[in-house]
Amino acid sequence: MSGRPLAGQRVIVSAGPTFEDIDPVRFIGNRSSGKMGFAVAAAAVELGAQVVLVAGPVSLPTPAGVQRIDVRSAAQMHAAVFAALPADVYIGAAAVADFTPRAVAGSKIKKRPGDDGLVLDLVRTRDILAELAADARRPALVVGFAAETDDVARYARGKLAAKRLDLIAANRVGVAGSGFESDDNALTVFDRDGGEHALGPAPKAQLAHELLELIARRPRAA
Ligand code: PMT
Repeated sequence: MSGRPLAGQRVIVSAGPTFEDIDPVRFIGNRSSGKMGFAVAAAAVELGAQVVLVAGPVSLPTPAGVQRIDVRSAAQMHAAVFAALPADVYIGAAAVADFTPRAVAGSKIKKRPGDDGLVLDLVRTRDILAELAADARRPALVVGFAAETDDVARYARGKLAAKRLDLIAANRVGVAGSGFESDDNALTVFDRDGGEHALGPAPKAQLAHELLELIARRPRAA
């Protein structure tokens, strides 16, 4: 393969968590650091792509050559990804919140004497990956990630089919040395034709490079 197999292709990558505000001082979030998605964006540039990185709230420097769009919430990430179309490839490495408060309180929610709990009214967020895969402007390749604590292959294959993806990169979370926050990871990439590729364990930068090489080799619809 040439050193720049993605030359001339536009790639959108999502990375990091989303924060869903409860009130002006509190939010619902998750443990994504953005390292995996930022490594994916950097690897796509190395392989010659023009890259738009839609980043949730993380404290990481922007990889060289990447156009970065910062967002906070799932709704903002959805809007930014769709605004960045058209693209040849979408890679959803972000850990997007599945639920968000139905309404954001305008002022800090106070504890009252006698309160022994708080019930939050949450609604589902829009699924960026699934909507993009079903959209008329669908990129030729739509690639998801699956973060699972157990039964990784079964859940990942389920998401690949349900969201109509071309590839899904599954990683185990909740264990040291892979998934959220760590510098290393291990991925099992499942494709829509039943193929399976094990990558790593390795530093996220190396895994990202191997994942992008798989993506570059994948045949595209005309
Ligand atoms: O950021 P790091 O600390 O480096 O950690 C990396 C990572 C573990 C976050 C990353 O490797 C990873 O697995 N990202 C996906 C995490 C996730 O939310 O997985 P999921 O199984 O809940 O979602 C499946 C897919 O649907 C993902 O591609 C996700 O981006 C997408 N999704 C989910 C919900 C939603 N509302 N919209 C989406 O697009």
